[in-house]
Amino acid sequence: MKENGASSELFPRTAVCHWKTLVPITLTMLATLSYAMALFYQSGQFHLIAPVKNVILPPKILPRGQFSLDQSQVPRTPGTQLAALDQNLLLKTWDKTVFNDVDSTAYKNIEVVNSTGRGTSMELTSFKMTHVELVSHVGRSIKVGDVLHYRIQSRDFNGRKRILGGDMWYATLNSDKDPKASTAGHVVDHGNGTYDAYVLAAWPGNAKFNLILVHASEAVYHLRNIVWNSERRAIWLGRYSFKGKTTDAVCYLQHHGKWEGKCEYPAYRALGSTVFLCDKKPDFPCESLYALNIHRQATSNRAKELGNGMEYLYKRPYFEQGVPVTNSTLRIEGSGLEHNKLPRCKADQPIPTIQGYWMNDKWNSLLCEFGTWTEKSSLTSCLRGQRLVILGDSTMNQWLNGLIKLLDTATVDKPGKRLWSKMHYDSLNLTLYFQFHPYVIGSHTYKLNEMREEVDVLNGLNDADCNYVVVISPWAHFAQWTRDSYIERVRLIRKAVIDLRHRCPDIPFVIKGPHPRDHKSWEAAMFISDYILTQIETINREAFGGIGAFFLPIWDMNLAYPARKNVHMPMTVIMEELKMFVGYVCDTLHPH
Ligand SMILES: *[C@@H]1O[C@H](CO)[C@@H](O)[C@H](O)[C@H]1NC(C)=O
Ligand SMILES: *[C@@H]1O[C@H](CO)[C@@H](O)[C@H](O)[C@H]1NC(C)=O
Ligand SMILES: *[C@@H]1O[C@H](CO)[C@@H](O)[C@H](O)[C@H]1NC(C)=O
Ligand SMILES: *[C@@H]1O[C@H](CO)[C@@H](O)[C@H](O)[C@H]1NC(C)=O
Repeated sequence: MKENGASSELFPRTAVCHWKTLVPITLTMLATLSYAMALFYQSGQFHLIAPVKNVILPPKILPRGQFSLDQSQVPRTPGTQLAALDQNLLLKTWDKTVFNDVDSTAYKNIEVVNSTGRGTSMELTSFKMTHVELVSHVGRSIKVGDVLHYRIQSRDFNGRKRILGGDMWYATLNSDKDPKASTAGHVVDHGNGTYDAYVLAAWPGNAKFNLILVHASEAVYHLRNIVWNSERRAIWLGRYSFKGKTTDAVCYLQHHGKWEGKCEYPAYRALGSTVFLCDKKPDFPCESLYALNIHRQATSNRAKELGNGMEYLYKRPYFEQGVPVTNSTLRIEGSGLEHNKLPRCKADQPIPTIQGYWMNDKWNSLLCEFGTWTEKSSLTSCLRGQRLVILGDSTMNQWLNGLIKLLDTATVDKPGKRLWSKMHYDSLNLTLYFQFHPYVIGSHTYKLNEMREEVDVLNGLNDADCNYVVVISPWAHFAQWTRDSYIERVRLIRKAVIDLRHRCPDIPFVIKGPHPRDHKSWEAAMFISDYILTQIETINREAFGGIGAFFLPIWDMNLAYPARKNVHMPMTVIMEELKMFVGYVCDTLHPH
C-alpha cells in the first residue's frame, strides 16, 4: 500500500531544491465561472452565465481589525469571460489566464531606448533587476486585516523595463516565529511588464514579503504553445506475457495523427478519442499486455527533444528565483484577525482571491465556514454507514492514510494492492475505497487489472441508498498529457458526475485541486511545470463547475506552507486539507 507513493515524478530524486523559502503562488486566478452559474441538470441543460469583469478596481484598504470575505478590493485577473454552452465549455479555458484586455495606452511608460541609451538588446525578466515596492502603505503603519499592495516592475538583466507580461510569480508573506505564520498572495498581470501583488496582513507581529520569479513569460509561452500541446511526453514500457514468455514494448497516448504496427487499447468512455498504443510484438497477441511502468529514458529523451534550445528557460537564473525586495520586513500592528462570519461551505463555492493563512501550523481558511469534524467521535458518527470513494493519485493516498489515522478504529481488512484498496470498518459500517487512476506515471510495475477509470468507478456507484461520498483529484499525473486529451478526459468525468447526480442528487462530491510541486531537473521543470498545474486547476474548476460539486482549492495553503514544496507534502498539510474536506462533507451530510 505504501508503494502507492509512486509519484508523478518523471525523474529520480537527486538534486536538492535550491530554495528554502517556500513561496506561494498566486494562481492567476480567473474570476471563477462558478458563481452566477445556474445549472439545471434535470433537463440535462447547463447554462453558464458569467459576469464580464474587465475592470480592475483600485484596491480599498480594509478597516482595521476585521476582515470581510468580500474580497472585491483584491482585483481578480481581468480576462474575457466566456459564456459557453456545455458543448464548447473548456475549449478556451486556458486562454483566459493569458490574454488580458489591454490597449496600447498600457505601454505609455515604457522607456524609449536608443543606441546611446542603455543598449540595444532585450534580455528575459531578471529576478535581480526587477523592482518591487510596497505602494499601499507609504508612510503609514500596517494593521491586521490590511491588504498590502506591491507593485512589481519587471526588468531584464540589463536593467531595461520589460514590455511583455506573462511572467509567473509566487508572492507570499511569511513569519518564521512569533508568530509562525504565512499566507499566499494574488498577482495581477497588466500585460505590459508591470504586475501587482496583493497579500493579506493576517496576523500581528513580524512578516516578510517574498517574491519568486517562477517562470519568465518566454517559458510560459513555450509551455503553453509547444510543450503542453506535444504528445508522447509520457512514454511507458508495456509488458506482454504469453506462453511463459514476456517482452517489453514502448507505449503512449495518441490523440492526433496516424499510427502503424501498434496494439490499440481505446477506452472511449474515459478517454474519448485519445488512444493508448503499444508497439505490436511478434508472437505476442495484443491481449497479452498485462502491466505498465514509465519508460524514463524515452520520456527524458522526449524532454530533450522538445526542450532543445530552450533548456535555459528551465534553469537558473531564469527559473524559480527569489527577487530581492528592499524593506521586505514588516511589522503588523493590532490584534488577531477577526473573521467576519464566513458563509457556510456549499457546492459551487465561489473561491476568493485570498484563500487563507497559516498560523502555528493551522490553516485558517477564508474560503467558507467549515464545521469541526476531525475529532474521532464526531468523525466516526459523521461517516457511519457511508461509502467513501477516493479517486486519484499518491496525494490522495496520503489523504487515505490521514483518514485512517483520524478514524483510529480497527478495520477488518488491510489494503493490499498497489493501485487500489478497500477497507471496511465493521463497527462503523463504513467503507473506504481508494482507486488510483490509470496510466500512472511512476517506476513501479502497475498491473492493468488493478487499474480502473474514474468514469467506470462513478458509473458503478448505483446502490439505491446513495450513501456515497466521492472525492476525486486528477492533476499530478496529467501534466504530461496534452491539453486536448486532458480536457476530453475531464469532460467525460464531468459527464459521469452528472449521471451520478441523476441517480444520487445529494451526495457530497469534492474535487481536490492541484498544488505546486518539486522539480528535480530542467526536464521535469518543463514537463511538469507548475504553470501547467495552474492551468489544470483552471480546467478542473470549470469542468466541475455548476454540477453541485465542491472544489477544494489547496494551492495557496500548500504554497504558503513553510517547507520545501513537494508533490508529497508533510502530514501537517494533509491534515489541514482533510479538516476542510471532512468539514464540508460532514456539514453536508448532517446539516444542523
Ligand atoms: C502597465 O499598465 C498598468 C495598468 O494599466 C499601468 O498602471 C502601468 O503604469 C503600466 N506600466 C507601464 C510600464 O507602462
Ligand atoms: C538617446 O538616449 C540618450 C539617453 O537617454 C539621450 O540623451 C539622447 O538624446 C538620445 N538620442 C537620440 C538621438 O534620441
Ligand atoms: C527602507 O528602510 C530604510 C532603513 O530601514 C529606510 O531608511 C528607508 O526609508 C526605507 N525605504 C522605504 C522606501 O520605505
Ligand atoms: C451499512 O451501510 C450500507 C451502505 O451505506 C447500508 O446499505 C446498510 O443498510 C448498512 N447496514 C447497517 C446494518 O446499518
